Amino acid sequence: MAFLADALSRVKPSATIAVSQKARELKAKGRDIIGLGAGEPDFDTPDNVKDAAVDAIRRGETKYTPVSGIPDLRKAISEKFKRENGLDYAPEQIIVGTGGKQILFNALMATLNAGDEVVIPAPYWVSYPEMVAICGGTAVFAETRLEDQFKLTAEALDAAITPKTKWLIFNSPSNPSGAAYSADELRAITDVLLRHPHVWILTDDMYEHLTYGDFEFTTPAQIEPKLYDRTLTMNGVSKAYAMTGWRIGYAGGPLELIKAMDLIQGQQTSGTNSIAQWAAVEALNGPQDFVVKNKKIFEARRDLVVSMLNQAAGISCPTPEGAFYVYPSCAGLIGKTAPSGKTIETDEDFVTELLETEGVAVVHGSAFGLGPNFRISYATSEALLEEACQRIQRFCAACK
Ligand SMILES: Cc1ncc(COP(=O)(O)O)c(C=O)c1O
Repeated sequence: MAFLADALSRVKPSATIAVSQKARELKAKGRDIIGLGAGEPDFDTPDNVKDAAVDAIRRGETKYTPVSGIPDLRKAISEKFKRENGLDYAPEQIIVGTGGKQILFNALMATLNAGDEVVIPAPYWVSYPEMVAICGGTAVFAETRLEDQFKLTAEALDAAITPKTKWLIFNSPSNPSGAAYSADELRAITDVLLRHPHVWILTDDMYEHLTYGDFEFTTPAQIEPKLYDRTLTMNGVSKAYAMTGWRIGYAGGPLELIKAMDLIQGQQTSGTNSIAQWAAVEALNGPQDFVVKNKKIFEARRDLVVSMLNQAAGISCPTPEGAFYVYPSCAGLIGKTAPSGKTIETDEDFVTELLETEGVAVVHGSAFGLGPNFRISYATSEALLEEACQRIQRFCAACK
């Protein structure tokens, strides 16, 4: 009898963690490495949020909390959904979890039976297919194209849906491509879903506040209220408020689903960290100037990186609307010989050679289900980004 569960054989380790690990090892050996793999803002959590956490400790808010979250936070989230997204979720329709990750996981755990399919547009955040696999479901990938800025088309979505489809996981702005759907683009997706009443939408709005220029964020249940009864709107404070380590994510959805997720969480982690919940209340209710300021910083970085990458031989990089990632194609380098003498046959070869030759750590696109591409996280200083892009240009020019 095998000791480890069969489900484990379906789960891959995270490629993004593997790249960060490799970069750390090379750094420890004294190599000059620029890591562009991390998926978290390089800013510190705002002081008002930290102060709220300290106050919570001093007030003694250090006990177990209700499984779905403290009433103050569920109220703050309910008001946030109304204020920013025009969505009516009563506090009972809201659940707070240990990061957006736990919310997604518990939603899938609460709903998937063996054989149920989950449509995931590719490129996708690395955890979606693995979570689906752990929960016993089957991931069905709907490919996107660089020409469409990596956005799912109505046709591709329609073709991926079968009678077994339970969910579409929809992520805008996207990790890894940064693509964000305009209201019209989203409408094309919601129109398809209206024709398939058995399909639910798990919308991951984690990067909502990181959009640039005059782009206006919208979410599926806002665009198409007829989908409200089969949408779980997931969000969190990790990316918008530089709170990745605090582990607070949340969702609003139909009461029955929220209750099912509460049941699972009650036997798993129970209520999320009490102090972090009070910090999240302040993040959502307090001043929002932190978000506005950082958007500007990220936008300048995005523009720098896109412009410099498009000057690298063999690289083509669309300008994404949001998040802090770009997802350039390295198709023009495939088949060429790297300075080491190795032939670049895949995007994984490309990122390996780039790391070995120039010390720039990025993640290969095949890890996100679509290549030959690579993902750069621009959540680091402009000076480092400029240096990294110069190295990428030099590497590409040296490939013959
Ligand atoms: C698209 C997406 N969804 C969800 C998460 C998870 O967020 P959290 O750190 O709150 O668990 C991430 C984090 O990288 C992400 O990129």
